[in-house]
Amino acid sequence: MTTPPRFKVDCIVGARPNFVKIAPVMRALAARPGLVPRLIHTGQHYDFVMNAVFFEELGIPAPDINLEVGSGTNTQQTARIMLALEPVFLASRPDLLIVVGDVNSTLAATLVASKLLIPVAHVEAGLRSRDRTMPEEVNRLATDCLSDLLFVTERSAIDNLTKENIDPARITFVGNVMIDTLHACLARAIAPARTFGEIGAAEGFVKAADAKGFGFVTLHRPSNVDDPVKLGALLGALAEISKRLPLVFPAHPRTRGMIAAAGLDALLDGADIVTAPPLSYLRALGLMRAARLVVTDSGGIQEETTALGVPCLTVRENTERPATIDEGTNTLIGTDPAALLAGVDEILTRGGKAGRIPHLWDGRAAERIADAVEAFLRRA
Ligand code: UD1
Repeated sequence: MTTPPRFKVDCIVGARPNFVKIAPVMRALAARPGLVPRLIHTGQHYDFVMNAVFFEELGIPAPDINLEVGSGTNTQQTARIMLALEPVFLASRPDLLIVVGDVNSTLAATLVASKLLIPVAHVEAGLRSRDRTMPEEVNRLATDCLSDLLFVTERSAIDNLTKENIDPARITFVGNVMIDTLHACLARAIAPARTFGEIGAAEGFVKAADAKGFGFVTLHRPSNVDDPVKLGALLGALAEISKRLPLVFPAHPRTRGMIAAAGLDALLDGADIVTAPPLSYLRALGLMRAARLVVTDSGGIQEETTALGVPCLTVRENTERPATIDEGTNTLIGTDPAALLAGVDEILTRGGKAGRIPHLWDGRAAERIADAVEAFLRRA
């Protein structure tokens, strides 16, 4: 009797949002006897709070290989990942590479695999902000163009890929792996009271949050935080909002660094705002679920708030995730502080958008991906 072939599938992760996406994919691949998954970490994110805590909470297996490339400019990061990854593929060639999302690690790995003629599957393909000042938009365009399998989360992605003349046979609507993770973790989400205690929230803040509820804030995009004038204006708006609604603001290292470098800490003095280091997934999920509103520039949080039914104000001029606006609870408010204040007022006085759950955001996207991957490898 001949044993059926087993296919080697490499998965790449590098940055925080990748970890949330890869967890259910690794689980679904590992459950298939015909597939042998291997996890390669580029090392783009390396701090415990940006990295290891996600592996622990989400049950992601320890990476088989860590390229340890660390921080740098977009080009430095991309180039270092390429140089470190090529020998890995040359030593042990996978039958397929899976990349997720839109970070520099996603594009760098796709380029290396493509040049070695290793097929690539892109999870979260087809999203477009049409804003090439975002490094992520360049990463998305190039990754999709080179990928053999394009797994999409929403209908807009199919339209975008079709307009770019991508063969529809390469595209599969699978749903959203980030929402798979959310479903898998909701029962374990950490209560806000515990997180408030851990991050040293003052008694007055906790009492005010009990009485009035609270808002959850994240800001880390270069377009919002790298210019001290813009960042100062946004922090001023947050201080104003906190007079009506206490805010919890876990800050990405980039944001924290910019606030310190520009001497903007004073803008938050006396405001009902608790700042914190980046929070673990289960802590952030617990806060988001309980929040009256969320203010963010993150891609993933726009989707998570839609899945949770919590109103979200996105501090950007565009979004690559229009389903969160057309169907979900998200509102794009731009980067004008006055618009942010108006958006908050609308939610606090009228409750904000109710929204509905987008098609196939049902917790089973990774299973669909594993099905499609197996079918592709058997055909190849
Ligand atoms: C990256 C992604 C972005 C994603 C974000 C989530 C790209 C182009 N951007 O942006 O899409 O939304 O991750 O977090 O890939 N730093 C640390 N510790 C870490 C990692 C970073 O202190 O573990 C600091 C470093 O000073 C670094 C800066 O944060 O220079 C930015 O990190 P980087 O990986 O370049 O991009 P992110 O802003 O995290």
